[in-house]
Parts: sequence; C-alpha cells; structure tokens
Amino acid sequence: MAKSRQRKRPSSRTARGLNPGFGTREMFVLTTPGLEEALADELADLGLHGRMDKGGIAIDAGAITMRAIHLYSRVASSVRIRVTRGRAENLEDVGRVARAGAWKSFIHPNQPVKVAVANSGSRFRHRAPVAKKVEIAIRDALRGPRLPGPRPPREEAVVHVRLVEGKVIISMEASGEPLNKRGWRREAGRAPIRENIAAAMLRLADWNPGEALVDPMCGSGTFPIEAATIAMGRASGARRSFNFERFPCHDAKAFKKERAEASTGVLDASAPIVGGDRDEGVIAAALKNARRAEVDDRVELRQSTFQELEPPCESGLIICNPPYGERVSKKSVIGAMYRDLGRAMRAEWSGWRIAILLPTARTKDALDLPVEEITRFKNGSLSVVLYVGSIP
Ligand SMILES: C[S@@+](CC[C@H](N)C(=O)[O-])C[C@H]1O[C@@H](n2cnc3c(N)ncnc32)[C@H](O)[C@@H]1O
Repeated sequence: MAKSRQRKRPSSRTARGLNPGFGTREMFVLTTPGLEEALADELADLGLHGRMDKGGIAIDAGAITMRAIHLYSRVASSVRIRVTRGRAENLEDVGRVARAGAWKSFIHPNQPVKVAVANSGSRFRHRAPVAKKVEIAIRDALRGPRLPGPRPPREEAVVHVRLVEGKVIISMEASGEPLNKRGWRREAGRAPIRENIAAAMLRLADWNPGEALVDPMCGSGTFPIEAATIAMGRASGARRSFNFERFPCHDAKAFKKERAEASTGVLDASAPIVGGDRDEGVIAAALKNARRAEVDDRVELRQSTFQELEPPCESGLIICNPPYGERVSKKSVIGAMYRDLGRAMRAEWSGWRIAILLPTARTKDALDLPVEEITRFKNGSLSVVLYVGSIP
C-alpha cells in the first residue's frame, strides 16, 4: 500500500483545528520590571533562552514549553502567546490584522471574549473602538458551521492588544490569574510580598535548599513557604488552573501527566527554614498558608520579635522585606526599627548572609550593614532596592 494511503484520515477533531498544540509561536513571559535577569536565569535552568525586553523575556516555543513554564517558573507573572501582528494606521488595519489570527486554536466559537488594549506611542486616541474592532474580527474568524461538541466555556478568553508606533500586536492570555498566585496564600498580613518577587529574591541571593533560611519578619510566611516548596521539589504551578486549559487546542491528557510529574516532590529535611513575626495574628495566617501548601512539617513559624529570634545554626541566609513606613508602620519609628535590626544582626547573626528589600537610602544608612545593591523594582506601588551582603 502506498505510504500516503496508510495515513489515518483526520478525525473530526483535527479537521476542526482542535489537534493538540499550536505550532511554534512567539511568547512573552512577563515578570515584575527589574526582575528580568532573574527570570532569564530561571528560564535558562529550564533550557529556555530568549530575548530580554522590559518586563519579560520573548521566546519562540510550542505548547509543551508553554505548559512547562506555567508549571515550573516561579519568577514569571504571566505568559502571552502572540497570535497575530502587523502594520496598523487605522481601525480597518487593526481589523484586518486581527482577522488573520489563528483564533480557532485558542478560542471556542461562542466563548465570551475580553479584549484589553494597551497603547504606547501609537496614533490611536481611544482604546474602546480598537477593542470592539478586534472582538468583531475574532468573531468573524471563528465563524463556521456549527459542529457537535461540548458547550463553549463560560469563562472569558482574554486577548491583549498592544498598539505601538504604527503596529498592532495581538496576543492570547495563557495564564489567567497571575502566576504568583500559587494557590496556597489565602491569608495575608498587611503588606505581603508577591510570591514571584520572593522567588526572584531567593534566586538573586543565590539561595539553595542546602542553606538555612530565616525570615525574621515573615508576615504571611511568603519567603519561608516559597523556600520550603523549592526544598521539597514542588513545582510552583502544580496546584492551580490556567487559562490555556480552555484553549480548543489544549492537550488535556498530556498536561494531566505533566502536572502529576510536577507534583511528586522529594522531602529534603536538611537545612532549617524559619519564619518569625511579632504579630500573633499574622503568624496564625502564615501557619494556615503553610498547611495549605503542605509544607507545615518543613518550616518553623513562630511569634517572636527579630530581637528575640535566635539563629537555628551557624550560618545561612536571612531574607526579609521589613515595614516600609508607607504601608505598615509610621515613618517616624521606621529609622529606629532599621537601626535596631542592623544592631540585632551584628550582635547575634554574625557569619550569616542577608538579602533585604529597602525603600530608601535613609533606611540603608540606618541598617548600617555591608550590603550591595542587586536590582531595583516596584513592590506594589513602592520603589525598592534589593541588597545582598554578609553580616560581619
Ligand atoms: C512588610 S511585612 C512582611 C510581609 C511578608 N514578607 C509577607 O509576604 O507577608 C513586615 C512584617 O514585619 C513585622 N514586624 C515589624 N516589626 C517587627 C519586629 N520588631 N520583629 C518581628 N516582626 C516585626 C510586621 O508584623 C509585618 O508582618
């Protein structure tokens, strides 16, 4: 029999364009601006190399890689898949570019669509007509004979449109809820740090699970819990859902297997991971978070001021984001608090390393420890600097 005859006829699923995957496409892996180096470093560990841009890394990849980034990247905040792009001087151009996208791989006919438009330096004055034009173009592109099959998802498919100097770039939101939401932090203190920022700080401070870790102002426990999940080999995205699971081209069977593989961590009980906070309420919240993350056996969380906390061993990494004044404490007491922290570190924690987020030069002077600037970024609306050093 001729070779071509041996090939299977395409099933109705593949004929409808529902075969798993979407080929190789450009994706933009976003992170907090200022943490691009940490993200590039993490992606390189996953064997992925791309082009660094403000706020993330662009890579060319297929569905398997896209799923791996969602399961394993701790520093990324979301992933967008480029669907179509082209020159656009007016609304008609935007419609033409949008219609050319392979939308059937990403959106079900009759699925609600939400279009978010970002305009940086283009001639378009208003975003709403652009969003409407793109939505209509996508509807046109999805039109076709009604085929039997499951009902379209009720959740919105999210499409991002970026207008830049005569060009339009249209992408699919693959992640949905930001990737820093791992699923375990439902209880928060007053100024919790995002989990992807905590992960980036651990990486930029060169922490690895063989080294003891202490956060003396741990709030809802983000640093110790994130570190414990790393130590226990648990993938950050193994316990949550993603928008791409609703793409018509999604390979649910393959992803189920990949997710199961990502969940099988190995207990590493060697180096202590400790969190302390003076506030009894936030420690109770941190404990609940640790239980939800199933690392409560691996971390030690206790109510204690940093002045009272004792080193659990001879050396390790202290990591924290102390109160900044603007959000959690009065400015007048902040200088004294940083002076006390520096004093306590020098008195009790000599030989330890420290990674600390500081909001101003004044707080660094008050801390008075030999630390070096690693990077700057925004923690929420506040500009902060990550310093790393060793306690003399
Ligand atoms: C910015 S929050 C830390 C947030 C934490 N990284 C998280 O993700 O939830 C600062 C924390 O420092 C704690 N704190 C302030 N002064 C302290 C002290 N002297 N000793 C211990 N904790 C203190 C506060 O109770 C607050 O929870």
